[in-house]
Amino acid sequence: AEDGYELWLRYSLVTDQQKLNDYRNTIKGWLVDNNSPTAQIIRKELQRALTGLLGKSVPEVKSATEGTLLIGTANAAALSSLDLKNRLKNVGPEGFVIFNTKVNNKNTLVIAANEDAGMLYGVFHFLRMLQTHQPIGKLAIESTPKTKVRILNHWDNLDRTVERGYAGFSLWDWHKLPDHIDPRYHDYARANASIGINGTVLTNVNANALILTPAYLKKVTALADLFRPYGIRVYLTARFSAPIEIGGLKTADPLDAQVQEWWKRKVAEIYKVIPDFGGFLVKANSEGQPGPQNYNRNHADGANMLADAVKPFNGIVMWRAFVYDNNVPVDRTKQAYNEFKPLDGTFRGNVMVQVKNGPLDFQPREPFHPLFGAMPSTPLMMEFQITQEYLGFATHLVYLAPLFKECLDADTHAKGKGSTVARVIDGSLENHTLSGMAGVANIGNDRNWCGHPVAQSNWYSFGRLAWDHTLSAEAIADEWVRMTFSNNVAVVSNIKNIMIASRDITVKYMTPLGLHHIMGWNHHYGPGPWIKDKPRADWTSVYYHQAEEKGIGFNRTTSGSNALEQYQSPVQQLYSDPEKCDERYLLWFHHVSWDRKMKSGRTLWDELCHQYYQGADSAKWMQQQWNTLEGQVDDAQFRFVKSLLNIQQQEAVWWRNACVLYFQTFSKKPIPPGFEKPD
Ligand code: GCU
Repeated sequence: AEDGYELWLRYSLVTDQQKLNDYRNTIKGWLVDNNSPTAQIIRKELQRALTGLLGKSVPEVKSATEGTLLIGTANAAALSSLDLKNRLKNVGPEGFVIFNTKVNNKNTLVIAANEDAGMLYGVFHFLRMLQTHQPIGKLAIESTPKTKVRILNHWDNLDRTVERGYAGFSLWDWHKLPDHIDPRYHDYARANASIGINGTVLTNVNANALILTPAYLKKVTALADLFRPYGIRVYLTARFSAPIEIGGLKTADPLDAQVQEWWKRKVAEIYKVIPDFGGFLVKANSEGQPGPQNYNRNHADGANMLADAVKPFNGIVMWRAFVYDNNVPVDRTKQAYNEFKPLDGTFRGNVMVQVKNGPLDFQPREPFHPLFGAMPSTPLMMEFQITQEYLGFATHLVYLAPLFKECLDADTHAKGKGSTVARVIDGSLENHTLSGMAGVANIGNDRNWCGHPVAQSNWYSFGRLAWDHTLSAEAIADEWVRMTFSNNVAVVSNIKNIMIASRDITVKYMTPLGLHHIMGWNHHYGPGPWIKDKPRADWTSVYYHQAEEKGIGFNRTTSGSNALEQYQSPVQQLYSDPEKCDERYLLWFHHVSWDRKMKSGRTLWDELCHQYYQGADSAKWMQQQWNTLEGQVDDAQFRFVKSLLNIQQQEAVWWRNACVLYFQTFSKKPIPPGFEKPD
């Protein structure tokens, strides 16, 4: 039985007979005209994939004959007749081309790139086409990634616990590294390379300085060596106080010469063993982490000190904008903008500021972060959370591509209409050369990597969108289902329907109409809209839902926290008037009366109940849809998802009941007719 270990790289026999014949005729042999370590990886992958997909082994040949799959970089001898320099002039170091052509008068299929990594990406792209039963007779593909740094952030601790990780322990077995190399590291790298991910931050943003000591750097080196031929660079988190903790200094002040010198030496030590080390990710002065503000310096002072240290080696610094202090009596959603916007233009060229998709914290639905479009002189990186901290962990089925897309497609209006978040982070809006997208990983050492079988699609879609943010959530789901479960049209459409609906359903049973952060206050799993157990001032004095007798919602207009002022004026206009505000964000921006008339004609109270009930009912619908798949997908996978959907359905009812009954203590209104019956 399948156990999900192979992820989307399943390579099972092509079930469409016509396609199978077609593929067998088109690919009679293959040739990788290259001897790099990456080429070795490609050879192994082709052997594995073609044997599985075509049901027979396809030989490696020595020269192009009829039906050869030809793979190489621009200078490959076997491809010398093809004017590759010209064909590859627009695809950069990581892009690739795939096309059918004649070589020595023989029909061949060519996958070519400027560099090794592009070759590998091209091969995985081609294999995906076979896995999803695409035609391969008339190909003219040119593909270039839209963002440069496509990177996973592992919130993995050195003791192998994973902060907000729900799929077991960390993959990194620090205890046995560097001598023992778990074969799984290779499969991790294959999976990432297959979707174009080219970087990984191995350690938690709440960093431990020990990772920068020689003993740990040896272990990191082993991983970096292993990942290199897959096109993956290793990055680490830097604990700002490391010069004190492991360096024996009295201060970590970024303007102190000794501190600067310490980091320069540390960085040189790292690059000596990892010449292509990517750089640092830093969380500073947020949630109790140390940072430059401890010394009355600002974020740019801190980031620039590290940037100067990695600059001679082409390293970068990803400085996080997720900063807030719960003792500061300012709406938390405003704090990042307040601190970072004034620093625009003061960061070094090799710094990117990494911004969460929304201004609060990875909620089921948030408006886009107001920093996007507000710092034109600084390359801003996207930070998405793939792990479902606020979306039911690895227990609830929630496909996140619609959430990612909603943010990427949002218009900041920073330079007029069409200034989407996607264009901010791919660098095109302001012509930045650096660009990037980070995803907080949902990967652990569970046999199936991500806990929930469908959670694998979130890792997958993050990578696909980092490569090309114009892909639709539907198209990505389509590929993923075909590669993971089946190409059967009915199965594909059924699973796709569940996936596409799942995020909106979750929003409805958790936080409809713009509600936010009403989950259990520390674990963030189940419902916790009640104030009494909130231990922090920002929750009790300015608690986000603000429910009271007259109404509910957080006023972020001029008469409230005025967080809206941080957006460009066309965006402000979209949300400032409660009568015109998109109802999906109503209670995010407005405090409104329980009796307010909604678009549906219902009162706000009735609509709130309606959405909670609809969410819970739809969780049941997901279950029913899935149950029709029995016998059509792998049985073990079928049963696993079935039992998880059963939990999700029960917990959707739990969310609904908890929230409706709690809010009813303020509204003092009856539950609308038809809904009062218990499940
Ligand atoms: C959330 C999460 C923390 C994490 C933080 C961050 O608040 O709950 O565990 O450390 O985000 O992004 O730094």
